[in-house]
Amino acid sequence: MAVLKKIRSRWWSPPSEDYQVEPEQSVPAAIGLRYDIRSLTISHLDECWRLDQRCFVDGEAYSRETFEYLLTAPEAVSYRATTSAGCMVGFVIGLVEPDHTGHITTVGVSPDHRRRHLAKRLMAEVERGFRQRNVRIVRLEVRSLNIAAQKLYESLGYAVTQRLPKYYSNGGDGLLMIKSLA
Ligand SMILES: CC(C)(COP(=O)(O)OP(=O)(O)OC[C@H]1O[C@@H](n2cnc3c(N)ncnc32)[C@H](O)[C@@H]1OP(=O)(O)O)[C@@H](O)C(=O)NCCC(=O)NCCS
Repeated sequence: MAVLKKIRSRWWSPPSEDYQVEPEQSVPAAIGLRYDIRSLTISHLDECWRLDQRCFVDGEAYSRETFEYLLTAPEAVSYRATTSAGCMVGFVIGLVEPDHTGHITTVGVSPDHRRRHLAKRLMAEVERGFRQRNVRIVRLEVRSLNIAAQKLYESLGYAVTQRLPKYYSNGGDGLLMIKSLA
């Protein structure tokens, strides 16, 4: 399925005409903000899609169509991080695959809310959701040059098991990382 292929490799999708990302200066949000982790559903489609475009620059963002597919898939396990004012500042989407492994398809945190352990909390929540569906192995792919994400996953117990040459549409290599939930 075309959408699934996009999900696997984060194919570039052209920005839509009614939404263009403006160049921005990231200003760290105030220290001491409280965040909540909540379910992410199709009702958050546009907010999530816009946040993804701020998280994944350089043409890596998913299309709105891809998010629509992910947020309506019965096998999806997805959460968002919000400020106390209800603004979405992070998200994670996982899929329970037919072989019953969990697959983290994407995780992102708004640039101005990073290094506050939001991704860590989102990953813990998606792993909890996977466990409830009897998933015992979780896998994900990460760009070989994305050191921040690799550090995050390593800190959570994921280990690189394979290099995936030219996995990404721009020719970049990927790394397959796996964690046992047992
Ligand atoms: C990767 C990303 C999700 C991390 O989100 P985050 O909320 O800032 O991460 P956390 O605060 O939970 O970090 C947890 C740990 O991961 C590691 N880590 C996270 N970002 C890091 C960075 N930039 N450099 C080094 N280590 C980093 C650290 O060990 C950190 O713990 P510490 O802050 O106590 O040292 C975020 O940088 C992001 O959205 N990047 C763009 C999208 C992306 O690359 N997503 C992943 C690929 S699908």
